[in-house]
Amino acid sequence: MLKLQDVDVFYQGIIRAVEDISLEVGEGQIISLLGANGAGKSSILKAISGLLVTENGKVTKGEVLFNDQRIDGKSPEEIVRLGITQVMEGRRIFPHFSVEENLKVGAYSVKNANLGDLLEMVYTYFPKLKDMRKRTAGFLSGGEQQMLVVGSALMAKPKILLLDEPSLGLAPLIVQEIFNIVKRINKEEGVSLLLVEQNARAALQIAEYGYVLETGHLVLQGEAANLRENEEVQKFYLGMGAKGSFKDIKRYRNKKELIL
Ligand SMILES: Nc1ncnc2c1ncn2[C@@H]1O[C@H](COP(=O)(O)OP(=O)(O)OP(=O)(O)O)[C@@H](O)[C@H]1O
Ligand SMILES: [Mg+2]
Repeated sequence: MLKLQDVDVFYQGIIRAVEDISLEVGEGQIISLLGANGAGKSSILKAISGLLVTENGKVTKGEVLFNDQRIDGKSPEEIVRLGITQVMEGRRIFPHFSVEENLKVGAYSVKNANLGDLLEMVYTYFPKLKDMRKRTAGFLSGGEQQMLVVGSALMAKPKILLLDEPSLGLAPLIVQEIFNIVKRINKEEGVSLLLVEQNARAALQIAEYGYVLETGHLVLQGEAANLRENEEVQKFYLGMGAKGSFKDIKRYRNKKELIL
């Protein structure tokens, strides 16, 4: 469905954010992309959604394919219309709009949208949003705002959702609640997911396959269950090791990428 082949991303023609990235998201799959700050996770999502152009960034090598059609070089509007929606990190909402107004904005790319049906669909997954539909979005809690941005993305009827760090700054119980809902949406609506996370524990619970990114390079990939068992992943991303440091994982970079 979605495929990246040997992709490089540069900003301003000189800053290389990622190099030689190849990854795949199949129909109906949840795939996780894990990595620390600055690893290049968001750059990869923007390379897919076309949003790189807004930051003077570009796919300078390789290809991004959606259903075998090349999409790098297409505008963000065209890409949204193909069925790819990115939820940016940082919960970007319209703070002065109500919850329901925010949701309606999410459907802007849908031709002849039946807003009533779309809202009902979102409310079945996020009943809290229905209760709060008249509230001013800026006053919602972090978890509620995260639900709102995911709900808003659903209003565009995507085939694939690119979620950028939905768990950031949220309490574990809220993360669990949101991830459970995301999993349900995947199952019941058939929406594929590329889930970017630093929270490997939560992400690997719902993903079937994961990729680990370090300073712009993929260093590890495998079935989620295998990644959860992997000692390095446990040490660096699940906080279960003794005193590991990020220096140790860098040794991967000199090797061929490890596939579990
Ligand atoms: N708009 C930009 N202009 C120039 N360099 C950028 C830009 N955005 C990102 N970068 C650089 O590209 C690299 C990857 O950044 P990116 O935001 O993709 O990482 P990330 O994995 O999403 O990090 P985080 O977890 O902090 O969100 C970093 O070195 C960053 O400084
Ligand atoms: Mg990021």
